[in-house]
Amino acid sequence: MKADRRRHESSVRPSPAPARDALAKASLRDHLLFMRKFFRQGRRIASIWPSSRAMAVASLHRVRWEKARVIVELGPGTGAITQEIVRRLKPPTRLIAVERDVDFMRILRARFGRCAGVTMAHGDVKNLAAILRREGIAHHGVDYFISGLGTPSLPRPTRQALLDTVGYYLQPHGCFTNITEIPWYYWPYYRRHFRHVAFQLVPLNLPPGGVYHCQSPRGQPTGA
Ligand SMILES: C[S@@+](CC[C@H](N)C(=O)[O-])C[C@H]1O[C@@H](n2cnc3c(N)ncnc32)[C@H](O)[C@@H]1O
Repeated sequence: MKADRRRHESSVRPSPAPARDALAKASLRDHLLFMRKFFRQGRRIASIWPSSRAMAVASLHRVRWEKARVIVELGPGTGAITQEIVRRLKPPTRLIAVERDVDFMRILRARFGRCAGVTMAHGDVKNLAAILRREGIAHHGVDYFISGLGTPSLPRPTRQALLDTVGYYLQPHGCFTNITEIPWYYWPYYRRHFRHVAFQLVPLNLPPGGVYHCQSPRGQPTGA
C-alpha cells in the first residue's frame, strides 16, 4: 500500500530537480551559444540571448494549470521558458515543444526529455500541423501555445501555416502567447490575426520586452 502511494507520488512529481539545477549552471553557456548563433544566423534565431525568468513567467501568466491538458511551446531555444513550464507541469498535462535548431534540440532533450509528459519535437513550425497530428492532438486540442518565435518576422509561408494551425488547434478559450523585445510595436499585427490581444510589459528583460496574449483567432484555420 505504502509502496503504491510512493510510486504514485513519484509519478506526479512535476520535474526532477537536477534538470532545474543543470539549467541554472548552464546559463552562461546558453548565452554564449545564443550569441554565436545570433551573429551567424540573425533573424533565424531572433534574439541575442535567452529570455529572462521574468519574461518566462509573464509568458505563462494566462495559463490555468489545473485545467490545461495540452501546452505547445514554439521555439524553446535553450529552454528559458520550458524550464518554467516543466516546473509547473503535472500529469495529465502534456508539453510538446517544437524547435528547429539541432543544437538547441540536443540541449532541450538532455535537460527535459525525461520529464513526465514532455515531448521534444525537432522540426520547423511551418510543419506544426503534421507534428501535432503525429502527437495525436485533435481539433481544438491545444489549450495554450507559448511562442518564443519572432512570429511577425518569419517567412510569409511559415507565418501563414503557423497561424492557420494555431487557429485550427487552439481551444475556443485558449490563448496564443508570444514574447517580443519591441514593446507594443506588433500590437496591430496581432490584432489583425486575433480578436482579443493584451500586451504585458516585461521591464526585467534585456532588452525590456513584453508578451502578447492573443485569443480568438481570425481567419480560416486548417489542420492540413
Ligand atoms: C528568440 S529565440 C527564443 C528562445 C526561447 N524561447 C527564449 O525565450 O529564450 C527563437 C527560437 O525560435 C526558434 N525558431 C525560429 N524559427 C523557427 C521555426 N521556423 N521553427 C521552429 N523553431 C524556430 C529559434 O531556433 C530559437 O530557438
